[in-house]
Amino acid sequence: MGLLTLPILISLMLCVVQGSPQLRRTSDRQGQCTYTFTVPSPKEGTCTEPEEAMTAIRELQHEDSAVKQDMDALKIRLSLLEKVVNRLLGGEAAGQESSSSHSFTDSKVEVQRLKLEKDEWENQRSSLEMAYSDLLKEKSSLEEEKERLTERLERVQQRQCPQVAETSRNRDQSTSQRLAPSATGSHAGPVRTSSVQGKGGPSELTRWGTDGVGYQELKSELTALPASRMLPETHSTTGGSENIGSTGCGELTWVGEPTTYRKADNIAGKYGVWMKDPEPVSPFTLDTIWRINTVGADIRQVFEYENLDQLVKGYPNKVYVVPRSMESNGAVVYRGSLYYVRRKAKILVKYDFKTETLAIQKELADAGFHGKYSYSWGGYTDIDLAVDEMGLWVIYSTENAKGSIVISQLDPNTLEVKQSWNTTIRKQSVANAFMVCGTLYTVGSYSSPTTTLNFAFDTQTGVQKQISVPFQNPYGYASMVDYNPTEKKIYGWDNYNMVAYDVRLSKM
Ligand SMILES: *[C@@H]1O[C@H](CO)[C@@H](O)[C@H](O)[C@H]1NC(C)=O
Repeated sequence: MGLLTLPILISLMLCVVQGSPQLRRTSDRQGQCTYTFTVPSPKEGTCTEPEEAMTAIRELQHEDSAVKQDMDALKIRLSLLEKVVNRLLGGEAAGQESSSSHSFTDSKVEVQRLKLEKDEWENQRSSLEMAYSDLLKEKSSLEEEKERLTERLERVQQRQCPQVAETSRNRDQSTSQRLAPSATGSHAGPVRTSSVQGKGGPSELTRWGTDGVGYQELKSELTALPASRMLPETHSTTGGSENIGSTGCGELTWVGEPTTYRKADNIAGKYGVWMKDPEPVSPFTLDTIWRINTVGADIRQVFEYENLDQLVKGYPNKVYVVPRSMESNGAVVYRGSLYYVRRKAKILVKYDFKTETLAIQKELADAGFHGKYSYSWGGYTDIDLAVDEMGLWVIYSTENAKGSIVISQLDPNTLEVKQSWNTTIRKQSVANAFMVCGTLYTVGSYSSPTTTLNFAFDTQTGVQKQISVPFQNPYGYASMVDYNPTEKKIYGWDNYNMVAYDVRLSKM
Protein backbone atom coordinates (compact mmCIF):
# COMPACT_ATOMS: atom_id res chain seq x y z
CA MET A 1 0.00 0.00 0.00
CA GLY A 2 3.09 2.20 -0.23
CA LEU A 3 1.77 3.26 -3.57
CA LEU A 4 -0.89 5.24 -1.85
CA THR A 5 1.37 7.86 -0.39
CA LEU A 6 1.43 10.06 -3.42
CA PRO A 7 4.38 12.40 -3.50
CA ILE A 8 2.34 15.04 -5.17
CA LEU A 9 1.05 18.16 -3.62
CA ILE A 10 -0.08 21.31 -5.26
CA SER A 11 -1.22 24.29 -3.41
CA LEU A 12 -3.22 26.56 -5.55
CA MET A 13 -3.84 29.88 -3.97
CA LEU A 14 -6.51 31.59 -5.94
CA CYS A 15 -7.32 35.07 -4.88
CA VAL A 16 -10.51 36.10 -6.56
CA VAL A 17 -10.13 39.75 -5.87
CA GLN A 18 -10.89 42.76 -7.96
CA GLY A 19 -7.89 43.68 -10.04
CA SER A 20 -5.47 41.94 -12.31
CA PRO A 21 -4.23 38.64 -11.00
CA GLN A 22 -0.87 37.32 -12.05
CA LEU A 23 0.38 33.81 -11.94
CA ARG A 24 3.62 32.98 -10.14
CA ARG A 25 5.11 29.55 -9.97
CA THR A 26 7.79 28.26 -7.63
CA SER A 27 9.01 24.74 -7.00
CA ASP A 28 10.57 23.56 -3.79
CA ARG A 29 13.27 20.96 -3.17
CA GLN A 30 10.84 18.05 -3.25
CA GLY A 31 9.88 19.10 -6.75
CA GLN A 32 6.53 20.31 -5.57
CA CYS A 33 5.02 23.26 -7.31
CA THR A 34 3.34 26.22 -5.68
CA TYR A 35 1.09 28.45 -7.71
CA THR A 36 0.46 31.89 -6.36
CA PHE A 37 -1.98 34.39 -7.74
CA THR A 38 -1.18 37.93 -6.85
CA VAL A 39 -3.27 40.96 -7.54
CA PRO A 40 -1.43 44.15 -8.29
CA SER A 41 -2.76 47.45 -7.07
CA PRO A 42 -5.08 48.99 -9.64
CA LYS A 43 -2.89 51.85 -10.64
CA GLU A 44 -2.40 53.09 -14.15
CA GLY A 45 0.90 52.63 -15.83
CA THR A 46 2.76 55.65 -16.93
CA CYS A 47 3.98 56.36 -20.41
CA THR A 48 6.31 53.68 -21.60
CA GLU A 49 8.37 53.04 -24.63
CA PRO A 50 8.04 50.18 -27.10
CA GLU A 51 11.02 48.53 -25.44
CA GLU A 52 8.94 48.18 -22.31
CA ALA A 53 6.18 46.62 -24.31
CA MET A 54 8.74 44.16 -25.63
CA THR A 55 9.87 43.43 -22.10
CA ALA A 56 6.29 42.88 -21.07
CA ILE A 57 5.76 40.51 -23.96
CA ARG A 58 8.94 38.63 -23.14
CA GLU A 59 7.85 38.29 -19.52
CA LEU A 60 4.51 36.98 -20.61
CA GLN A 61 6.13 34.56 -23.00
CA HIS A 62 8.34 33.38 -20.21
CA GLU A 63 5.42 32.78 -17.88
CA ASP A 64 3.55 31.23 -20.71
CA SER A 65 6.23 28.60 -21.28
CA ALA A 66 6.53 27.96 -17.54
CA VAL A 67 2.83 27.29 -17.37
CA LYS A 68 3.06 25.07 -20.42
CA GLN A 69 5.77 22.99 -18.78
CA ASP A 70 3.70 22.63 -15.66
CA MET A 71 0.73 21.61 -17.70
CA ASP A 72 2.79 18.82 -19.26
CA ALA A 73 4.10 17.70 -15.89
CA LEU A 74 0.58 17.71 -14.54
CA LYS A 75 -0.67 15.61 -17.39
CA ILE A 76 2.02 13.02 -16.77
CA ARG A 77 1.27 12.95 -13.05
CA LEU A 78 -2.41 12.69 -13.70
CA SER A 79 -1.96 9.72 -15.96
CA LEU A 80 0.23 8.09 -13.30
CA LEU A 81 -2.51 8.71 -10.80
CA GLU A 82 -5.02 7.16 -13.11
CA LYS A 83 -2.83 4.09 -13.40
CA VAL A 84 -2.62 3.84 -9.63
CA VAL A 85 -6.34 4.11 -9.31
CA ASN A 86 -6.88 1.51 -11.97
CA ARG A 87 -4.41 -0.82 -10.38
CA LEU A 88 -6.14 -0.41 -7.04
CA LEU A 89 -9.52 -1.03 -8.54
CA GLY A 90 -8.10 -4.14 -10.22
CA GLY A 91 -6.48 -5.14 -6.93
CA GLU A 92 -9.78 -4.70 -5.17
CA ALA A 93 -11.48 -7.09 -7.53
CA ALA A 94 -8.61 -9.56 -7.27
CA GLY A 95 -8.52 -9.19 -3.50
CA GLN A 96 -12.04 -10.50 -3.21
CA GLU A 97 -10.99 -13.76 -4.82
CA SER A 98 -7.53 -14.16 -3.43
CA SER A 99 -6.66 -14.65 0.18
CA SER A 100 -4.86 -11.37 0.36
CA SER A 101 -3.80 -10.33 3.82
CA HIS A 102 -5.03 -6.79 3.25
CA SER A 103 -8.33 -6.03 4.76
CA PHE A 104 -10.98 -5.39 2.14
CA THR A 105 -12.46 -2.39 3.97
CA ASP A 106 -9.05 -0.79 4.26
CA SER A 107 -8.50 -0.84 0.55
CA LYS A 108 -12.00 0.38 -0.12
CA VAL A 109 -11.37 3.45 2.02
CA GLU A 110 -8.07 4.00 0.30
CA VAL A 111 -9.68 3.76 -3.12
CA GLN A 112 -12.25 6.31 -2.11
CA ARG A 113 -9.58 8.63 -0.87
CA LEU A 114 -7.69 8.20 -4.10
CA LYS A 115 -10.75 8.98 -6.13
CA LEU A 116 -11.25 12.18 -4.20
CA GLU A 117 -7.65 13.13 -4.75
CA LYS A 118 -8.05 12.43 -8.42
CA ASP A 119 -11.10 14.67 -8.61
CA GLU A 120 -9.20 17.41 -6.95
CA TRP A 121 -6.45 16.92 -9.45
CA GLU A 122 -8.83 17.26 -12.32
CA ASN A 123 -10.17 20.47 -10.84
CA GLN A 124 -6.74 21.91 -10.42
CA ARG A 125 -5.83 20.91 -13.91
CA SER A 126 -8.83 22.66 -15.40
CA SER A 127 -8.10 25.83 -13.38
CA LEU A 128 -4.63 25.74 -14.74
CA GLU A 129 -5.89 25.24 -18.25
CA MET A 130 -8.12 28.25 -17.92
CA ALA A 131 -5.29 30.30 -16.55
CA TYR A 132 -3.15 29.20 -19.45
CA SER A 133 -5.70 30.16 -22.05
CA ASP A 134 -6.17 33.57 -20.43
CA LEU A 135 -2.45 34.05 -20.54
CA LEU A 136 -2.40 33.26 -24.25
CA LYS A 137 -5.13 35.79 -24.89
CA GLU A 138 -3.27 38.48 -23.01
CA LYS A 139 -0.13 37.66 -24.92
CA SER A 140 -1.89 38.09 -28.23
CA SER A 141 -3.31 41.42 -27.06
CA LEU A 142 0.16 42.62 -26.28
CA GLU A 143 1.51 41.40 -29.57
CA GLU A 144 -1.24 43.24 -31.38
CA GLU A 145 -0.34 46.36 -29.42
CA LYS A 146 3.23 46.00 -30.48
CA GLU A 147 2.21 45.61 -34.10
CA ARG A 148 0.14 48.77 -33.90
CA LEU A 149 2.95 50.68 -32.26
CA THR A 150 5.45 49.69 -34.88
CA GLU A 151 3.04 50.61 -37.60
CA ARG A 152 2.38 54.01 -36.10
CA LEU A 153 6.00 54.72 -35.49
CA GLU A 154 6.67 54.12 -39.18
CA ARG A 155 3.87 56.38 -40.18
CA VAL A 156 4.91 59.16 -37.85
CA GLN A 157 8.32 59.02 -39.50
CA GLN A 158 6.90 59.46 -42.96
CA ARG A 159 4.07 61.76 -42.15
CA GLN A 160 2.89 64.10 -44.84
CA CYS A 161 0.93 67.24 -44.46
CA PRO A 162 -2.75 67.25 -45.30
CA GLN A 163 -3.71 68.61 -48.65
CA VAL A 164 -6.12 71.41 -48.24
CA ALA A 165 -8.68 72.33 -50.82
CA GLU A 166 -10.17 75.32 -49.25
CA THR A 167 -13.52 76.46 -50.46
CA SER A 168 -15.80 78.63 -48.54
CA ARG A 169 -19.43 79.22 -48.82
CA ASN A 170 -20.95 82.55 -48.35
CA ARG A 171 -23.42 82.02 -45.64
CA ASP A 172 -25.30 83.97 -43.08
CA GLN A 173 -23.94 84.10 -39.63
CA SER A 174 -26.46 82.72 -37.30
CA THR A 175 -26.77 82.07 -33.64
CA SER A 176 -25.97 78.61 -32.53
CA GLN A 177 -28.57 76.64 -30.80
CA ARG A 178 -28.19 73.89 -28.36
CA LEU A 179 -30.30 71.05 -29.59
CA ALA A 180 -31.93 68.38 -27.51
CA PRO A 181 -29.23 67.68 -24.96
CA SER A 182 -30.02 64.28 -23.62
CA ALA A 183 -30.71 63.65 -19.99
CA THR A 184 -28.00 61.17 -19.30
CA GLY A 185 -27.14 62.55 -15.92
CA SER A 186 -23.79 63.81 -14.84
CA HIS A 187 -21.74 61.10 -13.35
CA ALA A 188 -18.46 62.23 -12.00
CA GLY A 189 -15.55 60.47 -13.51
CA PRO A 190 -13.36 58.77 -14.10
CA VAL A 191 -15.18 55.82 -12.70
CA ARG A 192 -13.53 52.60 -11.81
CA THR A 193 -15.86 49.72 -11.53
CA SER A 194 -15.80 46.02 -11.52
CA SER A 195 -18.32 43.91 -13.24
CA VAL A 196 -20.43 40.99 -12.29
CA GLN A 197 -22.41 39.05 -14.76
CA GLY A 198 -24.44 35.97 -15.38
CA LYS A 199 -22.61 32.71 -15.63
CA GLY A 200 -21.57 31.38 -18.96
CA GLY A 201 -20.74 34.72 -20.50
CA PRO A 202 -17.16 35.62 -21.17
CA SER A 203 -15.67 37.63 -18.40
CA GLU A 204 -15.48 41.35 -18.72
CA LEU A 205 -13.21 41.43 -15.74
CA THR A 206 -9.49 41.53 -16.02
CA ARG A 207 -7.96 38.38 -17.24
CA TRP A 208 -4.23 38.27 -16.91
CA GLY A 209 -4.16 42.01 -16.69
CA THR A 210 -1.12 43.97 -17.59
CA ASP A 211 -1.99 46.98 -15.50
CA GLY A 212 1.00 46.06 -13.39
CA VAL A 213 3.22 45.92 -16.41
CA GLY A 214 2.48 49.58 -16.94
CA TYR A 215 2.24 49.28 -20.64
CA GLN A 216 1.01 52.21 -22.59
CA GLU A 217 1.36 53.31 -26.15
CA LEU A 218 4.06 55.55 -27.34
CA LYS A 219 2.64 59.00 -27.47
CA SER A 220 3.09 61.22 -30.40
CA GLU A 221 2.40 64.89 -30.52
CA LEU A 222 3.31 65.07 -34.19
CA THR A 223 -0.25 64.63 -35.31
CA ALA A 224 -1.40 67.81 -33.68
CA LEU A 225 -1.50 70.56 -36.23
CA PRO A 226 0.24 73.60 -34.82
CA ALA A 227 -2.20 76.31 -33.87
CA SER A 228 -0.68 78.64 -36.43
CA ARG A 229 -2.00 76.40 -39.16
CA MET A 230 -5.53 76.65 -37.96
CA LEU A 231 -7.81 79.18 -39.45
CA PRO A 232 -9.37 81.72 -37.16
CA GLU A 233 -12.86 80.92 -35.99
CA THR A 234 -14.93 80.12 -39.02
CA HIS A 235 -18.25 81.74 -39.44
CA SER A 236 -21.13 79.75 -38.19
CA THR A 237 -23.01 79.14 -41.36
CA THR A 238 -26.15 77.77 -42.75
CA GLY A 239 -26.55 76.63 -46.28
CA GLY A 240 -30.19 77.35 -46.73
CA SER A 241 -30.33 74.99 -49.69
CA GLU A 242 -30.51 71.85 -47.59
CA ASN A 243 -33.95 70.64 -46.89
CA ILE A 244 -33.41 68.57 -43.81
CA GLY A 245 -36.67 69.32 -42.07
CA SER A 246 -37.47 67.63 -38.80
CA THR A 247 -34.05 66.13 -38.12
CA GLY A 248 -32.94 69.27 -36.30
CA CYS A 249 -29.94 69.47 -38.54
CA GLY A 250 -27.40 72.17 -38.91
CA GLU A 251 -23.72 72.73 -38.91
CA LEU A 252 -21.66 71.60 -35.92
CA THR A 253 -20.48 74.77 -34.20
CA TRP A 254 -19.58 73.77 -30.66
CA VAL A 255 -18.52 70.69 -28.74
CA GLY A 256 -18.70 70.75 -24.95
CA GLU A 257 -16.39 69.34 -22.33
CA PRO A 258 -16.64 65.58 -22.18
CA THR A 259 -18.26 63.76 -19.30
CA THR A 260 -16.59 60.51 -18.26
CA TYR A 261 -18.90 57.63 -17.54
CA ARG A 262 -16.69 54.65 -17.11
CA LYS A 263 -13.11 53.50 -17.21
CA ALA A 264 -12.19 50.13 -18.70
CA ASP A 265 -10.66 47.63 -16.28
CA ASN A 266 -7.73 46.35 -18.28
CA ILE A 267 -5.52 46.67 -21.32
CA ALA A 268 -8.21 45.19 -23.59
CA GLY A 269 -10.15 48.38 -22.96
CA LYS A 270 -7.44 50.87 -23.82
CA TYR A 271 -9.23 51.33 -27.11
CA GLY A 272 -12.84 50.60 -27.68
CA VAL A 273 -16.20 51.70 -28.88
CA TRP A 274 -19.35 52.42 -26.93
CA MET A 275 -22.63 53.79 -28.12
CA LYS A 276 -26.39 53.78 -28.10
CA ASP A 277 -28.50 52.83 -31.07
CA PRO A 278 -30.01 56.07 -32.39
CA GLU A 279 -32.89 54.11 -33.90
CA PRO A 280 -33.32 51.10 -31.64
CA VAL A 281 -35.50 48.13 -32.47
CA SER A 282 -37.44 46.21 -29.79
CA PRO A 283 -36.45 44.65 -27.38
CA PHE A 284 -33.73 47.31 -27.26
CA THR A 285 -34.37 50.89 -26.28
CA LEU A 286 -32.86 54.34 -26.52
CA ASP A 287 -31.24 53.58 -23.17
CA THR A 288 -29.49 50.38 -24.22
CA ILE A 289 -25.74 50.77 -24.31
CA TRP A 290 -23.32 48.76 -26.40
CA ARG A 291 -19.68 48.42 -25.67
CA ILE A 292 -16.73 46.65 -27.25
CA ASN A 293 -13.16 46.55 -25.97
CA THR A 294 -11.05 46.57 -29.09
CA VAL A 295 -7.50 45.72 -28.07
CA GLY A 296 -6.59 42.22 -29.15
CA ALA A 297 -6.31 39.91 -32.10
CA ASP A 298 -9.73 38.34 -31.72
CA ILE A 299 -12.28 41.02 -30.93
CA ARG A 300 -15.65 39.32 -30.77
CA GLN A 301 -17.33 40.27 -27.50
CA VAL A 302 -20.07 42.87 -27.50
CA PHE A 303 -21.44 43.92 -24.12
CA GLU A 304 -25.01 45.04 -23.82
CA TYR A 305 -26.05 47.18 -20.85
CA GLU A 306 -29.62 47.96 -19.99
CA ASN A 307 -28.77 51.61 -19.43
CA LEU A 308 -26.02 54.04 -18.57
CA ASP A 309 -26.32 53.29 -14.89
CA GLN A 310 -25.60 49.61 -15.47
CA LEU A 311 -22.58 50.51 -17.59
CA VAL A 312 -21.27 52.73 -14.84
CA LYS A 313 -21.80 49.96 -12.28
CA GLY A 314 -20.28 47.40 -14.61
CA TYR A 315 -23.24 45.06 -14.96
CA PRO A 316 -23.73 43.93 -18.53
CA ASN A 317 -27.12 42.57 -19.40
CA LYS A 318 -25.76 40.25 -22.02
CA VAL A 319 -22.57 39.47 -23.85
CA TYR A 320 -22.73 38.66 -27.54
CA VAL A 321 -19.93 36.85 -29.28
CA VAL A 322 -19.97 37.73 -32.94
CA PRO A 323 -18.98 34.90 -35.27
CA ARG A 324 -16.17 36.80 -37.03
CA SER A 325 -13.57 38.92 -35.29
CA MET A 326 -13.69 42.61 -35.92
CA GLU A 327 -11.02 45.07 -36.87
CA SER A 328 -10.49 48.03 -34.56
CA ASN A 329 -13.30 50.24 -33.35
CA GLY A 330 -15.14 51.49 -36.43
CA ALA A 331 -18.30 49.62 -35.47
CA VAL A 332 -21.73 51.23 -35.06
CA VAL A 333 -25.09 50.02 -33.79
CA TYR A 334 -28.01 51.05 -35.94
CA ARG A 335 -31.59 49.79 -36.07
CA GLY A 336 -30.89 46.75 -33.92
CA SER A 337 -27.79 45.62 -35.77
CA LEU A 338 -24.08 45.93 -35.26
CA TYR A 339 -22.22 47.05 -38.36
CA TYR A 340 -18.53 46.33 -38.25
CA VAL A 341 -15.41 45.66 -40.29
CA ARG A 342 -13.93 42.19 -40.34
CA ARG A 343 -10.42 41.67 -39.11
CA LYS A 344 -7.71 42.09 -41.72
CA ALA A 345 -10.32 42.57 -44.44
CA LYS A 346 -12.33 45.20 -46.27
CA ILE A 347 -15.49 43.30 -45.53
CA LEU A 348 -18.40 45.04 -43.88
CA VAL A 349 -20.58 42.89 -41.67
CA LYS A 350 -24.10 43.36 -40.38
CA TYR A 351 -24.81 41.37 -37.23
CA ASP A 352 -28.37 41.21 -36.00
CA PHE A 353 -28.60 41.34 -32.19
CA LYS A 354 -32.04 39.84 -31.94
CA THR A 355 -31.32 36.70 -33.92
CA GLU A 356 -27.62 36.75 -33.03
CA THR A 357 -26.65 35.99 -36.59
CA LEU A 358 -24.62 37.55 -39.36
CA ALA A 359 -27.20 39.08 -41.63
CA ILE A 360 -24.95 40.31 -44.43
CA GLN A 361 -21.32 40.47 -45.37
CA LYS A 362 -20.22 42.75 -48.17
CA GLU A 363 -16.87 43.78 -49.52
CA LEU A 364 -16.18 47.50 -49.60
CA ALA A 365 -14.59 47.76 -53.05
CA ASP A 366 -11.09 49.26 -53.26
CA ALA A 367 -10.95 50.15 -49.57
CA GLY A 368 -7.52 50.11 -47.98
CA PHE A 369 -7.45 48.01 -44.82
CA HIS A 370 -5.33 46.75 -41.92
CA GLY A 371 -3.07 49.74 -41.54
CA LYS A 372 -2.99 51.09 -45.10
CA TYR A 373 -5.10 54.16 -44.41
CA SER A 374 -5.64 54.35 -40.66
CA TYR A 375 -6.29 57.51 -38.76
CA SER A 376 -3.18 59.15 -37.30
CA TRP A 377 -3.27 57.09 -34.12
CA GLY A 378 -3.11 53.85 -36.08
CA GLY A 379 -4.97 50.94 -34.63
CA TYR A 380 -6.12 49.63 -38.03
CA THR A 381 -8.79 52.29 -38.17
CA ASP A 382 -8.82 52.17 -41.95
CA ILE A 383 -12.54 51.66 -42.32
CA ASP A 384 -14.74 53.63 -39.95
CA LEU A 385 -18.52 53.32 -39.93
CA ALA A 386 -20.71 56.23 -38.91
CA VAL A 387 -24.38 57.02 -38.37
CA ASP A 388 -26.06 60.40 -38.58
CA GLU A 389 -29.46 61.92 -39.36
CA MET A 390 -29.08 60.73 -42.97
CA GLY A 391 -28.31 57.11 -42.20
CA LEU A 392 -25.33 54.81 -42.41
CA TRP A 393 -21.93 55.90 -43.74
CA VAL A 394 -18.47 54.52 -44.13
CA ILE A 395 -15.30 56.63 -43.96
CA TYR A 396 -12.21 55.10 -45.58
CA SER A 397 -9.68 55.56 -48.37
CA THR A 398 -8.61 53.84 -51.55
CA GLU A 399 -5.55 53.45 -53.74
CA ASN A 400 -7.18 55.69 -56.34
CA ALA A 401 -7.92 58.34 -53.78
CA LYS A 402 -4.23 58.14 -52.75
CA GLY A 403 -5.03 58.08 -49.06
CA SER A 404 -7.57 60.90 -49.06
CA ILE A 405 -10.79 60.30 -47.22
CA VAL A 406 -13.59 58.76 -49.25
CA ILE A 407 -17.11 58.90 -47.82
CA SER A 408 -19.76 56.43 -48.93
CA GLN A 409 -23.36 56.28 -47.94
CA LEU A 410 -24.49 52.70 -47.37
CA ASP A 411 -27.81 50.96 -47.71
CA PRO A 412 -28.22 49.45 -44.23
CA ASN A 413 -30.20 46.54 -45.63
CA THR A 414 -27.74 45.44 -48.28
CA LEU A 415 -24.51 47.20 -47.28
CA GLU A 416 -24.27 48.39 -50.87
CA VAL A 417 -22.69 51.76 -51.55
CA LYS A 418 -25.40 54.22 -52.54
CA GLN A 419 -23.11 57.14 -53.34
CA SER A 420 -19.51 58.17 -52.73
CA TRP A 421 -17.63 61.43 -52.31
CA ASN A 422 -13.93 62.17 -52.67
CA THR A 423 -12.43 64.58 -50.20
CA THR A 424 -8.86 65.86 -50.23
CA ILE A 425 -8.39 65.31 -46.51
CA ARG A 426 -5.55 62.86 -46.01
CA LYS A 427 -6.92 60.14 -43.78
CA GLN A 428 -3.67 59.50 -41.97
CA SER A 429 -3.33 63.18 -41.09
CA VAL A 430 -6.47 63.32 -38.97
CA ALA A 431 -7.12 61.58 -35.68
CA ASN A 432 -10.72 60.59 -36.32
CA ALA A 433 -13.83 61.47 -38.27
CA PHE A 434 -17.58 61.30 -37.88
CA MET A 435 -20.72 62.39 -39.69
CA VAL A 436 -23.30 64.95 -38.57
CA CYS A 437 -26.23 65.85 -40.84
CA GLY A 438 -24.49 64.54 -43.93
CA THR A 439 -21.29 66.44 -43.19
CA LEU A 440 -18.00 64.78 -42.36
CA TYR A 441 -16.01 66.33 -39.51
CA THR A 442 -12.42 65.44 -38.75
CA VAL A 443 -10.53 65.65 -35.44
CA GLY A 444 -7.06 67.22 -35.60
CA SER A 445 -5.27 65.31 -32.85
CA TYR A 446 -5.96 62.26 -30.73
CA SER A 447 -3.40 63.18 -28.08
CA SER A 448 -3.57 66.92 -27.51
CA PRO A 449 -5.83 67.66 -24.57
CA THR A 450 -7.16 70.56 -26.58
CA THR A 451 -7.42 70.13 -30.31
CA THR A 452 -9.97 71.13 -32.92
CA LEU A 453 -12.33 69.71 -35.46
CA ASN A 454 -10.29 70.83 -38.43
CA PHE A 455 -12.16 69.93 -41.61
CA ALA A 456 -15.75 69.68 -42.68
CA PHE A 457 -16.93 68.08 -45.91
CA ASP A 458 -20.57 68.58 -46.79
CA THR A 459 -21.86 65.71 -48.92
CA GLN A 460 -24.93 67.71 -49.91
CA THR A 461 -22.89 70.39 -51.64
CA GLY A 462 -19.60 68.57 -52.15
CA VAL A 463 -17.89 71.49 -50.45
CA GLN A 464 -14.91 70.97 -48.17
CA LYS A 465 -13.55 73.59 -45.82
CA GLN A 466 -11.18 74.08 -42.96
CA ILE A 467 -12.82 74.75 -39.62
CA SER A 468 -11.64 75.23 -36.07
CA VAL A 469 -14.12 73.97 -33.50
CA PRO A 470 -12.36 73.28 -30.18
CA PHE A 471 -12.39 69.64 -29.12
CA GLN A 472 -10.94 68.05 -25.99
CA ASN A 473 -9.09 64.78 -25.45
CA PRO A 474 -8.77 64.92 -21.66
CA TYR A 475 -7.00 61.56 -21.33
CA GLY A 476 -4.64 62.08 -24.24
CA TYR A 477 -5.55 59.09 -26.38
CA ALA A 478 -8.82 59.42 -28.22
CA SER A 479 -9.36 56.27 -30.26
CA MET A 480 -13.05 56.63 -31.03
CA VAL A 481 -15.20 59.65 -31.86
CA ASP A 482 -18.75 58.95 -33.06
CA TYR A 483 -21.93 60.97 -33.28
CA ASN A 484 -25.38 59.94 -32.06
CA PRO A 485 -27.99 61.77 -34.16
CA THR A 486 -30.88 61.07 -31.81
CA GLU A 487 -29.19 62.45 -28.73
CA LYS A 488 -27.10 65.00 -30.65
CA LYS A 489 -24.10 63.87 -28.68
CA ILE A 490 -20.62 62.70 -29.50
CA TYR A 491 -19.46 59.46 -27.93
CA GLY A 492 -15.77 58.95 -27.43
CA TRP A 493 -13.24 56.48 -26.04
CA ASP A 494 -10.20 58.22 -24.66
CA ASN A 495 -7.44 56.13 -23.11
CA TYR A 496 -9.62 53.54 -21.30
CA ASN A 497 -12.31 56.13 -20.62
CA MET A 498 -15.79 56.15 -22.07
CA VAL A 499 -16.74 59.79 -22.55
CA ALA A 500 -19.53 61.78 -24.19
CA TYR A 501 -19.75 65.37 -25.41
CA ASP A 502 -22.69 67.67 -25.91
CA VAL A 503 -22.73 69.50 -29.21
CA ARG A 504 -24.49 72.48 -30.72
CA LEU A 505 -25.65 72.67 -34.27
CA SER A 506 -26.31 75.94 -35.97
CA LYS A 507 -29.90 76.91 -36.48
CA MET A 508 -31.23 76.30 -39.93
C1 LIG B 1 -13.20 59.70 -56.76
O1 LIG B 1 -11.89 59.61 -57.26
C2 LIG B 1 -11.63 58.43 -57.99
C3 LIG B 1 -10.17 58.41 -58.35
O2 LIG B 1 -9.78 59.62 -58.93
C4 LIG B 1 -12.55 58.35 -59.20
O3 LIG B 1 -12.35 57.14 -59.90
C5 LIG B 1 -13.99 58.40 -58.72
O4 LIG B 1 -14.88 58.43 -59.82
C6 LIG B 1 -14.20 59.63 -57.87
N1 LIG B 1 -15.54 59.57 -57.30
C7 LIG B 1 -16.35 60.60 -57.25
C8 LIG B 1 -17.68 60.36 -56.66
O5 LIG B 1 -16.02 61.70 -57.66
